[in-house]
Amino acid sequence: MHRRIMAPGALAAASLMLVIPASAASHSPGAPGIGDPYYPAYGNGGYDVSHYDLRLKYQPATDELEGTATLLARTTQDLSRFNLDFLLDVSEVRVNGAKASFATSGEHELEITPKNPLAKGTAVTVVVRYRGVPSSKEAYGFNAWLRTADGGVAAGEPEGAWWWFPSNDHPLDKATFDVSVQVPNGTQFISNGTLQSTSSRAGWTRYNWRSNKPQTTYLATFAAGRFDVTTGTSEGGIPVINAYSKDLGDNYGAARASIERSGEIADWLSEYFGPYPYNSVGGYVPNTPSVGYALETQTRPFYSPRGFSNGTNTSVVVHELAHQWYGDDVSVEHWKDIWINEGFARYAQWLWSEHEGEGTAQEIADYVYASRAADDPFWTVRPGNPGPENQFHIAVYDRGALALQALRNEIGDKAFFEILKGWPQKHAYGNASVADFRRYAEEVSGQPLAALFDTWLFQPSKPAAAVARGASI
Ligand code: ARG
Ligand code: ZN
Repeated sequence: MHRRIMAPGALAAASLMLVIPASAASHSPGAPGIGDPYYPAYGNGGYDVSHYDLRLKYQPATDELEGTATLLARTTQDLSRFNLDFLLDVSEVRVNGAKASFATSGEHELEITPKNPLAKGTAVTVVVRYRGVPSSKEAYGFNAWLRTADGGVAAGEPEGAWWWFPSNDHPLDKATFDVSVQVPNGTQFISNGTLQSTSSRAGWTRYNWRSNKPQTTYLATFAAGRFDVTTGTSEGGIPVINAYSKDLGDNYGAARASIERSGEIADWLSEYFGPYPYNSVGGYVPNTPSVGYALETQTRPFYSPRGFSNGTNTSVVVHELAHQWYGDDVSVEHWKDIWINEGFARYAQWLWSEHEGEGTAQEIADYVYASRAADDPFWTVRPGNPGPENQFHIAVYDRGALALQALRNEIGDKAFFEILKGWPQKHAYGNASVADFRRYAEEVSGQPLAALFDTWLFQPSKPAAAVARGASI
């Protein structure tokens, strides 16, 4: 139930007459989830965060993290209490300056009850003081914090934030970030955006990072370790900051030879996807030898050393940087929409292969299609709604990119590349669904595409060969 916001005078008069606290009747708790069908407890209801200010101290030797998170938010309903998603140990919470009571519930919920209920549409400042050892905390029986020999790293999808800052943890609530972390001298701290400054005192160095465009919580990254840092500017004018663990061993050269091309690759991608959406680019490779994935953490993807064990791998750099448009700038509305991230990032790798003279997108599509027999379980995964258990199944990537090759063949290069460039503009710094993309493709191409999308993204079976070659259906 929503109450209209009254002038302060009217509110005072009303409560004097009724002698009832404003809370009881009209304010209710915010929902413990934002409403994602795959992950009902992720994110929260009742408010929207616009900015996270994280001021932390991290000790690599013990994996101890402590400090303060200050969240600027706005309520979207009258609230008696609200939740954040978080796993570390909280010692104090203040809401608009006043101490609030708090409790934990569920797998990762921090329930905050402000002293005074909050009216819909008002600005709220939440200060959370906390500490903890991220590697010791689990939710749903897992831990996504990456402990390294020389530090710790937060890079996980869809879960990553719970181990280092309290948040409204869902792509639907984007915010800007200031991340300031103090680490012992000799350790570096890497995060998103630009390094505003560093300062040293009494054996500790503080790194102040700023990510000044809307950013999803899982794309915020934390990396403390012993890094070599390189800086530069791309030909197109994008400032570049890269970081390589000093302990990558034999993979060091290939990792650096690949990621040093981030500026060039971002410039190249912008020819297809439009202007690069952020004011900084780069990548970092911590000493996480057992990790098998990379992640498109905003402006500065995370790469695992394993990705470079066979030599240079510019393809993975293309993939993660393609996500800066497809995934980070335009994010999923719900996690079922993962194809609008992974299908496009994979397709960008095919375009890069063509650019590098290593096989055209059509050749790779033909190969992928032919190499998967009709009874391969690959074809039972529906990239347009794969289910949480198959969110990162290879089919979301490869079948997802096949869908784009089929679309390209159906509508022609002119409309196809207009769509690739137009989409990030249309939904800049926002969210969109698979259905939104289909409607946009229909609008730009002037063709009905429901059957094509259904065949490639939603049927649990291998499409017919003629369809794969782009013949009309
Ligand atoms: N979006 C990432 C990529 O393809 C995949 C992350 C998978 N996450 C995970 N925890 N395995 O670039
Ligand atoms: Zn990806």
